[in-house]
Amino acid sequence: DRTLTLLGLESSCDDTAAAVVRGRPGGAGEILSSVVSGQAELHAAFGGVVPEIAARAHAERLDLCVERALAQAGLTLAEVDAIAVTSGPGLIGGVVSGVMCAKGLAAGAGLPLIGVNHLSGHALTPRLTDGLAYPYLMLLVSGGHCQFLAVEGPERFRRLGGTIDDAPGEAFDKCAKMLALGYPGGPAVEREAALGDGARFGFPRPLLDRPDCDFSFSGLKTAVRRARDRIVAEKGGLTVQDRRDLCAGFQQAVAEVMAEKTRRAFRLFAQTHGPQTLAVAGGVAANAVLRAALTGAAAAEGFAFLAPPLALCTDNGAMIAWAGLEQLGLRGPDDMALGARPRWPL
Ligand code: KG4
Ligand code: ZN
Repeated sequence: DRTLTLLGLESSCDDTAAAVVRGRPGGAGEILSSVVSGQAELHAAFGGVVPEIAARAHAERLDLCVERALAQAGLTLAEVDAIAVTSGPGLIGGVVSGVMCAKGLAAGAGLPLIGVNHLSGHALTPRLTDGLAYPYLMLLVSGGHCQFLAVEGPERFRRLGGTIDDAPGEAFDKCAKMLALGYPGGPAVEREAALGDGARFGFPRPLLDRPDCDFSFSGLKTAVRRARDRIVAEKGGLTVQDRRDLCAGFQQAVAEVMAEKTRRAFRLFAQTHGPQTLAVAGGVAANAVLRAALTGAAAAEGFAFLAPPLALCTDNGAMIAWAGLEQLGLRGPDDMALGARPRWPL
């Protein structure tokens, strides 16, 4: 159970990231450095991540991110104990870039290499930031993911529910795109929604009639598009207030559904573990209205609520380094046959 220092690499979506984390498996972690090179500006014109552009940018930026992460930690590669890398799931070009880079570093420095599931990185973040004890409930909501997990160990996850179609971040991004609010859409929609009337449009509350804790966002997205098209057909265009009301209605629907589904996840989780802590991760967890809805739901069901710092909720290398640190002792390092997996359920 000795203290380990890991370098972590992340390149599965549109952030190239490297970080150095030190800690003991089962203990607390310390982030010595965390470098994230985002690509929002490369994808903005397309309203979403373009895989080919992302892969090329990762390949170009990984080396520099690693160099900076080591420099900021004040360490050389030789002083690191192991290298962790996201080996899936994600956009395959980016994942391949990261795995190749990590293999090169590991082979060159004679260091152990461990492939980490990106989702497990998000799921274990509250342990890195707050030393949160197992078991806890995790709501992972990002541009690509949406699931409730009972986190019972470094590699023991039970999926309690999740989206049956789009991820919520994707829905925020699509909503922003159809209202010409730019990319990434989440922050823009939240900003506009704050000035809007959420009750003007009676947007649906998808799957609320089902007793499970699954989500659906594609119907809600369509409802926003229809409402927009109706206004445009009637008035020839959208006013500033129309946009704000559409955003507010959309966000309110997401918040209400999320709060209610979270209440159900609490009950499912509590059947085995009793009330513990709800931790969130993923970019959508940045949304203040959603956070408030989740905080309220947690309080009502006797759960504590934990939101790691925003920079660690979104994609980063520190969560990968930490997951590698916790998992290395359980299953040992991977060898040079480590591959990149586009799909990899927890
Ligand atoms: O976790 P993340 O950085 O990347 C992955 O998808 O893995 O999440 C990015 C997503 C985007 O879809 C973005 O629109 C959304 O998180 N997001 C938000 C907010 N900030 C970012 N969604 C709603 N409200 C926000 N304030
Ligand atoms: Zn992510």
